[in-house]
Amino acid sequence: MIVSGSASQSLGASLARVLEEPLTAATYDRFPDGETLAAVPDFAGERAIVVASTISNDAHIELLQLQDAVRQAGAEEVVTVLPYMGYGRQDDAFEEGHPISARAVARAISTGADRVLTVNPHERGVCEFFEPSATAVDAAGRLSEPLPDALEDPVFLSPDAGAIDLAETVRDGYGGGETDYFEKTRHSGTDVEISPSDVDVAGRDVVVADDIIATGSTMSEAVAVLEERGVERVFITCVHPLLARNAYTKLSRAGVEAIYGTDTVERTVSSVSVAPAIANEL
Ligand code: R5P
Repeated sequence: MIVSGSASQSLGASLARVLEEPLTAATYDRFPDGETLAAVPDFAGERAIVVASTISNDAHIELLQLQDAVRQAGAEEVVTVLPYMGYGRQDDAFEEGHPISARAVARAISTGADRVLTVNPHERGVCEFFEPSATAVDAAGRLSEPLPDALEDPVFLSPDAGAIDLAETVRDGYGGGETDYFEKTRHSGTDVEISPSDVDVAGRDVVVADDIIATGSTMSEAVAVLEERGVERVFITCVHPLLARNAYTKLSRAGVEAIYGTDTVERTVSSVSVAPAIANEL
């Protein structure tokens, strides 16, 4: 049976359709003191596939509760799917006294799961924090699907060297075009500086691809640089459209033509489903 966290209900339903597995109706409640209670009153079966993006602290607790609830209801095997793994970017102790938060949450999740899958983790190394190691599912191959058919002499850019593979995957999916990357310097969680790439973008359509759009600072800086250089249209695409705070407004104001993302994080821009990619791994 498929069990969805409250933030992954649409993806859970898509996965149930693709796998032709039943979908149980989990319930999500909150006590007056703020504690959450996620439950599976109708769960029955030997294998539970718990699908839950840990996009908030509450979502983390909810996932632990769902894993425990299905076990309590008789599941012999619990497979946890983290479409988006929260805290995945805190994959090291960056300053003295800091925790490795990705490891801490991975250990907690591992206690209730026989197997864990996660979609396009920010750093693949976080998979090793799970016991046993998590499987990384690559869903980037479908990011090109919502792009318009006829782009003008397209360029596929990533905001930093680390995401160039993603830009190349989107280019390959589209069927052609140049690729390049910007140089990015991050000063704080919301302050980033983007240095222009070498490629000439004047009069051309540009697709900027990244794994995560969180505050939108990286992407809006990239769009500003492209606008200064006479770009025709800018499309932005990502695997995980977190779109925290005012990111959507910021990007719209920056002048992007369209924003595309997947349903690892369920937002209005989540036009690509990762359900087939997860189903393949399952
Ligand atoms: C960082 O290396 C990631 O790939 C993304 O570029 C980053 O998480 C985006 O964050 P924000 O939208 O807050 O700039």
